[in-house]
Amino acid sequence: MEVLGIDIGGSGIKGAPVDTLTGTLKTDRHRIPTPQPSTPEAVIATTSMIVDFFDWDGPIGVTFPSVVQGGVTKTAANVDESWIGAPASDLLAAALGRPVALLNDADAAGLAEMRFGVGRGVSGVVVMLTFGTGIGSGFFVDGRLVPNTELGHLEMHGMDAEHYAAGRIHEEDGLSFDDWGDRVNEYLNYVHRLVWPDLIIVGGGISKEWDSWSDRLAVPTRVVPAELRNEAGIVGAAVAAS
Ligand code: BGC
Repeated sequence: MEVLGIDIGGSGIKGAPVDTLTGTLKTDRHRIPTPQPSTPEAVIATTSMIVDFFDWDGPIGVTFPSVVQGGVTKTAANVDESWIGAPASDLLAAALGRPVALLNDADAAGLAEMRFGVGRGVSGVVVMLTFGTGIGSGFFVDGRLVPNTELGHLEMHGMDAEHYAAGRIHEEDGLSFDDWGDRVNEYLNYVHRLVWPDLIIVGGGISKEWDSWSDRLAVPTRVVPAELRNEAGIVGAAVAAS
């Protein structure tokens, strides 16, 4: 089955048709910068442009960087706050002329890793963590998603963990890989103390540079880099719609 997966992020909106049997993209992805301010109207208009770019009339899955419950976006940490309480599924369906599957971005990335990546066949508790603009989490028990866990908002040093250890902090604060890796290590140990996962999967843009900082990690469980990297959100969105 082919599904158009669209990954809405704080800085870019990316999409590609996905073969949901193999988890591979059928063509190169298309990316458009996220409009600012990132209001529902502006973001949905850009999302429509992705659908038009592929001239797509099949099923569509969409990720969003917030809690998504019953098709409603409930939080807005890194997007315009007018998303809070927005009936996002209905707005997307109206704009795109068909129902869409809508889910949290890290939940989607986790779904993709559990089906096609390093989480394949892993039972017990698996936590997917994405380190990008924020920190997203996807929580799995015996392969089943427990949605909207939001572990990026655990408090560390009096602030949201994502303000301490997200990928963005590495860039913006000019931290060395060692210093940032130490922060990630502290965060992963905190998560471990709270939920004792059997496996932690590290994704998000910065996971591409895994070799530059993973030597700082000392966590009492298995920690591995995501396999699908940048494509996990797009693939997970498609999986959710299939
Ligand atoms: C949001 C999450 C999202 C994560 C990664 C956090 O700020 O609260 O919903 O998954 O950023 O985008």
